[in-house]
Amino acid sequence: MRRKLIAGNWKMNGLLADGVSLASQVAELAKPRSHDCDLLICPPFTLLIEALRAVAGTPVAVGGQDCHAKLSGAHTGDVSPQMLTDLGCRYVILGHSERRADHGETDAEVKAKAEAALAANLTPIVCVGETESERDSGKTLEVVGRQLKGSLPEGGTAEKVVIAYEPVWAIGTGRTPTLDEVEEVHAMIRRESGLGAGVRILYGGSMKPSNAKELLALPDVDGGLIGGASLKAADFWAIASACP
Ligand code: 13P
Repeated sequence: MRRKLIAGNWKMNGLLADGVSLASQVAELAKPRSHDCDLLICPPFTLLIEALRAVAGTPVAVGGQDCHAKLSGAHTGDVSPQMLTDLGCRYVILGHSERRADHGETDAEVKAKAEAALAANLTPIVCVGETESERDSGKTLEVVGRQLKGSLPEGGTAEKVVIAYEPVWAIGTGRTPTLDEVEEVHAMIRRESGLGAGVRILYGGSMKPSNAKELLALPDVDGGLIGGASLKAADFWAIASACP
C-alpha cells in the first residue's frame, strides 16, 4: 500500500514574515489531526530554517527545491544536499521544468543531483513532464519515458525516490490533462521506472481543492506536487484532506 504524499512547492515566493506565517498555519492544521497522507512543504532556501522551526513536532516534513550534485566545494551560490540534510530537510525537488527551462538542466544533471541527494540521505522528488507541443504531437509517453530513464538515480529504491509527473503546460495555467491522460502517464512511469510497484508518483500542474479528489483517486496517483495552491494554508489543507 503506497502512502500518499502531499507536497507544496512554494517556488520563489515568500518573504520571512509570510513564510513563517504560512508554515505555522500548515503546522497548526496538521497538528491535532490524524493523517492518511504524508505532508511536505518545500520553501525557498532562505525560509528553510524558519519553516523547520515552525513545523517542529508536527507531521509536516520540509524539503528543498534544488541542490547541487556535489556534497561540498567551490560552487558559489549553490546549496549542497548535505546542507539540506544538516538542517533537517528530508526531501528535495529535482529537475522541475522551471529549472530545466531557466537553468538549462539536463536529464544527466538531474540524475547526478538525485544520486547526490540519496548519498546525503535525502529523498529526491524527480520531476518529468511534456510541453504542450510535445503533447499535441503525440509524443508525451516518449518524452516522459526518456526523461525518466535519463533522470532517475542509480541505486534508487521505491522507498527512497519519488517521481512527479508535471505536464509543463498544466503548471500555473489552470488547465489539467483529463483523468485518463494522467492515469496513462502514471501507469507508464510505474512500469518503466524500474523502481517497482511501490514507487510513489505525484501529479503536479494546477492541482487545487476543486480537482484534487478526482486526481488523487486515480490508481497510479500517489499524491500531489502543488504550486500556487500550496501558498494558501487552507487550500493546501483542503487538498491534503481530499486524499482517499
Ligand atoms: P501549480 O500548482 O501552480 O500549477 O504548479 C505546479 C508545480 O509546478 C509544482 O511543482
